[in-house]
Amino acid sequence: MAFTASSPSPSSLLRASFSPHEPKAPWTSSASQSDQFSFISTAGPSCQIPSLLKPISAETHRSKSVVPLAAKVAAAEVDKNNVAEDYEKLAKEMENASPLEIMEKALVKFGNDIAIAFSGAEDIALIEYAKITGRPFRVFSLDTGRLNPETYQFFETVEKHYGIHIEYMFPDAVEVQGLVRGKGLFSFYEDGHQECCRVRKVRPLRRALKGLRAWITGQRKDQSPGTRAEIPVVQLDPSFEGIDGGIGSLVKWNPVANVEGPDIWNFLQVMNVPVNPLHSQGYVSIGCEPCTRPVLPGQHEREGRWWWEDAEAKECGLHKGNIKKEEALHLNGNGNEISATNGSANVPDIFNSKTLVSLSRTGIENLTRLENRSEPWLVVLYAPWCRFCQAMEGSYIELAENLAGTGGKAGKFRADGEHKTYAQQELQLGSFPTILFYPKHASKPIKYPSEKRDVATLLAFVNALR
Ligand code: ADX
Ligand code: SF4
Repeated sequence: MAFTASSPSPSSLLRASFSPHEPKAPWTSSASQSDQFSFISTAGPSCQIPSLLKPISAETHRSKSVVPLAAKVAAAEVDKNNVAEDYEKLAKEMENASPLEIMEKALVKFGNDIAIAFSGAEDIALIEYAKITGRPFRVFSLDTGRLNPETYQFFETVEKHYGIHIEYMFPDAVEVQGLVRGKGLFSFYEDGHQECCRVRKVRPLRRALKGLRAWITGQRKDQSPGTRAEIPVVQLDPSFEGIDGGIGSLVKWNPVANVEGPDIWNFLQVMNVPVNPLHSQGYVSIGCEPCTRPVLPGQHEREGRWWWEDAEAKECGLHKGNIKKEEALHLNGNGNEISATNGSANVPDIFNSKTLVSLSRTGIENLTRLENRSEPWLVVLYAPWCRFCQAMEGSYIELAENLAGTGGKAGKFRADGEHKTYAQQELQLGSFPTILFYPKHASKPIKYPSEKRDVATLLAFVNALR
């Protein structure tokens, strides 16, 4: 794999400046965690490490020797510079920093008042980075009650591997009861995932964050082109509040924002990090069991989440600040557009091949009107900014070449922006990409029903109909 500026090399993924004399917390040693706390409390002032770790919600503790009682927790020691910190400027300064440098900075700055949000997927990399810093760190997970058994088992593995206790956050029992009694266990398939996510994820997250000054997420730009393409490595959280209350009271760190999926996996492999067994079953992005499935070749990882919903901006609300106003408007409707204009002017066009006919609006109207065509056509309705379209570019071009040799034609029609309504009304556009087959002797195009977008399956579809 070639490493580019946005795809750091394994060594740059690890680069961080340590002083060899700085004390390190013995997370990997066999020392008990109560030892760790006393160790932490003796850390020198240069580390700005608080004397004790406190749990996110000081409710019940598995072991008093591991998590100190709330009453004993020392006042938070927060870097006083936080108040004045210009996080936009810091984000720019750290744009090319390695995840390890960013993690180090975050932990030093916020000590006891920051925690890693761990979903049980490849964001295990965050925990590994935190461990490598040698500093104390906290981890919380939102247990929605609907995670896969494999994910629960993985949490256990992670706790043992790192010698940590994950601070689980649970949904409010009465709220879950109300939702499930009122609408059943699978209401999200009927009326969308937002309500269930709000109860099972967003509100528990809000509670967790109210006890912190900063949090660390595993969001990456490449995870969701619609919503995450611009996430900075650090920002003032645009949606949630920290312990002091009010927007601006919480800092959100995204240390792997600029790392690409394959590089995360290289890192996990090199460091021999345990991973969720679901990954070996084809899962990439992992959320709740009923709302996550493995992805097929040619599909983007986000297509494994809430797949029954026609939204490119698939966010459950944990990172709703990513969704721009106009995107939210689309989300509230049923489209997967990102803007009312014809896509984004800055995004280069895709499906560029001599064997592919680029159809104008008049072109596709004419093609659709024809009763008899001299050859069958396959047309993709696409938007160049759509990551799912981008993901199938290679296979569609290969298919076009194949069709060209067998008396068929392949075309593309850009169906976002001003053409969207027409495409929805006349061309069966649901979400991008939509693929249409125009048989030789029939006027009505046939919509490709599958989400498999590899050449063999697309060709089987064409051959079955031609
Ligand atoms: S989601 O919004 O679609 O659910 P995604 O699965 O991409 O989020 O994960 C992005 C980051 O959000 C994770 O790396 C993690 O930091 C946080 N996150 C997601 N789900 C959870 C969870 N159940 N518990 C804690 N953090 C989570
Ligand atoms: Fe509910 Fe699905 Fe959201 Fe999990 S991902 S909280 S099951 S809607």
